[in-house]
Amino acid sequence: DEVALSRIASAYGTPTYVYSETYIHAQLNALQSAFSGLPTELRYAVKANSNLAVLELMHQAGVGFDIVSAGELHRVLAAGGDPTKVVFSGVGKSVEEIDFALKLGIQCFNVESAEELTRISGRAANQQVVAPISIRVNPDVDAKTHPYISTGLKENKFGVGKDQALAMYQSAAADPNLQIVGIDCHIGSQITDIEPLLQSLKNLIDLVDALENEGITIHHIDLGGGLGIQYQNEMPLDMAAYGAGVTQLMQGRKQTIMLEPGRALVANAGVLLTRVEYLKPGQEPGQPDFAVVDAAMNDLIRPALYQAWHDILPLEQTDQGEQGNWHIVGPVCETGDFLAHDRSLTLSPGTLLAVASAGAYGMVQASNYNSRNRPAEVMISGDSFRLIRRRETIEDQLRLEQGE
Ligand code: LLP
Repeated sequence: DEVALSRIASAYGTPTYVYSETYIHAQLNALQSAFSGLPTELRYAVKANSNLAVLELMHQAGVGFDIVSAGELHRVLAAGGDPTKVVFSGVGKSVEEIDFALKLGIQCFNVESAEELTRISGRAANQQVVAPISIRVNPDVDAKTHPYISTGLKENKFGVGKDQALAMYQSAAADPNLQIVGIDCHIGSQITDIEPLLQSLKNLIDLVDALENEGITIHHIDLGGGLGIQYQNEMPLDMAAYGAGVTQLMQGRKQTIMLEPGRALVANAGVLLTRVEYLKPGQEPGQPDFAVVDAAMNDLIRPALYQAWHDILPLEQTDQGEQGNWHIVGPVCETGDFLAHDRSLTLSPGTLLAVASAGAYGMVQASNYNSRNRPAEVMISGDSFRLIRRRETIEDQLRLEQGE
């Protein structure tokens, strides 16, 4: 885009998240063209970045939504989204959340347990409507990703095994309050190898055929999200190869493919701008050099939580700066409060930095730890930019404790 990030930092201060509309569109186009040979419905995973401006962009591009809470559904509505293009995932849907989603007439509940199926049926009966459902099958495939974001193994809390899924479909087929529309899985996030994804599809197809033999028709197969991106030197998931692989496996089948991508659409569309406050070079050789910046683990928790790598890009060239092997750390009182370790950079107090790949699971996981105000968010489109969320203030934080 044609906007200098330093202009945004001057206008709105730091730390600030900045996203590129152009980049999100480019990723969407790449994914759509990879699946252009198949009837495919994209359902953006709201949890990756739930800013209303991002949701509006997705809606305007014709994309629906994958949600995991009533809060996310409220956001979709506030962004003008269409409830009939919403799928509702998650292991703990409350009665209130199910009632709200039924009232709006969402596309599908992705059901995660037998008890949830019973609850949804009961709530549908109560409202005298029929609930559209899909069963989340745990295909027992190793996504080969970080254990905290791996979800497709038997030991994970998500979905149900093949045998239980069959039994649940049989009971749903006999239940007038439920309408079977699909089958789904999501084996994990930040997956860079297409093989586990294609293996999951094969496992789902076997189940679809078994159901068909019992007279149960499945209209869509939802493969979840999980498409990996480049943070450091990993190869991003090859969308074209994934699309080609899925297209081949779906040859001659009548089901629609559904995808729930989050990260791949927004992660590399975003950076977190932060400024160096202080430099604390190591006192002895071999001791780490610390650059204390104004963003912290409360703003971007990924490095602390998953040992995630984010590139650190200095946005100003200084000749006088100090060369070091810097630990980029925040002001929060925890040793785990770091954004990066061992980065060879030339820095000065005041240097503006961009923390890269921060468009997904960045702002959505921000907290008020240490009573810090959450960052502002800015959207760039081409040569212009606009504030899409103002910086939080201490009044915002105190309001819930002191009354309105
Ligand atoms: N569908 C379901 C049911 C999910 O649980 C998720 C992500 C997605 C779709 C979207 O996955 P994606 O395409 O973004 O990989 N906080 C972690 C990531 C947690 C992902 C949780 N589920 C991180 O910062 O890496």
